[in-house]
Amino acid sequence: MLKEKLKSKIKKSKSISFSEYMEVVLFDSEHGFYENKKIFGKDGHFTTSPLVSKYFSHCIGKNFIDISKQNKINNVVEFGAGNAKLATDLILYLRNQKNLPEKYYLFEKSSCLVEAQKEVINNHNLDKSCDFIWIKDYNELPSQAFIIANEFFDCIPTDLFRRKDNHYQKAYINNSLELTWQKYDPHSELSLDYLSLPSNLPNNYVFEFSSGQFDIINNISRFIDKAYFLIFDYGYSANELYIDDRIDGTIACIKNHLSDFNPLSEVGNKDISAFINFSYLRNIFDCKEWSTKAFMSQANYLLSFEILDDIDISEINELNAIKKLILPNHMGELFKVLIAHKNINMISNKFIRNDIMKL
Ligand SMILES: C[S@@+](CC[C@H](N)C(=O)[O-])C[C@H]1O[C@@H](n2cnc3c(N)ncnc32)[C@H](O)[C@@H]1O
Repeated sequence: MLKEKLKSKIKKSKSISFSEYMEVVLFDSEHGFYENKKIFGKDGHFTTSPLVSKYFSHCIGKNFIDISKQNKINNVVEFGAGNAKLATDLILYLRNQKNLPEKYYLFEKSSCLVEAQKEVINNHNLDKSCDFIWIKDYNELPSQAFIIANEFFDCIPTDLFRRKDNHYQKAYINNSLELTWQKYDPHSELSLDYLSLPSNLPNNYVFEFSSGQFDIINNISRFIDKAYFLIFDYGYSANELYIDDRIDGTIACIKNHLSDFNPLSEVGNKDISAFINFSYLRNIFDCKEWSTKAFMSQANYLLSFEILDDIDISEINELNAIKKLILPNHMGELFKVLIAHKNINMISNKFIRNDIMKL
């Protein structure tokens, strides 16, 4: 079904860009990968940090308490709330701490996941603790908020480019669902300069560029005046991202917890994502008049909010879950946290390490 839809879309224009391809296979309103309730956790395709341990969300809760008190922020906005595990654990924690937000906005594109999120929130009777509001349009955002995005930016459709001699080529998908390359006119779209690419990229080096990520931050900026924006995702600064080992780019797929690197197979049945270039996100925030004052590994963020103090170390499962979140060979180093803020007093010396200079 999805293949037929894709082919008819391609027929109209002979080929589509990789980002248009991703948009259909991940987010088609009927058959896209994300229109499915069984994506997350052991029985799904992949496991994200909020599902590994509730203490991940508790650390975000501690961060919310600090920021909301200092800045009178009483809304939370979560982009891409998945199966609502983060929302649930965060609100349960904040209820215990007697520090609830008034409103919790879930910005979610998948209708199927919206339904799943509503079920989870209802099953926990959380709607008695604060107002849950599902939104799909940027103009429904509140003017002030504590914003969370966990593994949201990595699945935003991206284009693929490659360096070819002294110019760039952009990837397209043809009617046989094969990748083809066409010369790229650098004046036709948003500038690649935002990526902070190294000047000496090897010939044939493939890299991603998501104008969708730019659009999202731009749209949020139009409606939010005061915010603390917490982004968790896997990736690197531009300096660390564009190394020779990644000459084929960073697109990866996952299905039933197994990864592969062919986004053109099993259309719609697996997730497709790319590493985040955090220098790119920082450049976008900077040009939209946000401050980006903190960047660190997920491990350093969670340790800054004392994740180890909360757990019962005699509970072996709990301990193993925390290890997964913070050890460098699991999610501790590859996953990063970028904090951007606008009209907010930032707590400057909270973090045990701040690598913002890397971006
Ligand atoms: C990889 S999942 C992460 C889910 C969750 N944050 C977690 O960590 O478990 C990405 C989520 O973002 C949502 N999403 C992707 N693109 C979106 C967009 N443009 N607007 C709103 N939600 C989007 C997906 O439907 C899904 O809920």
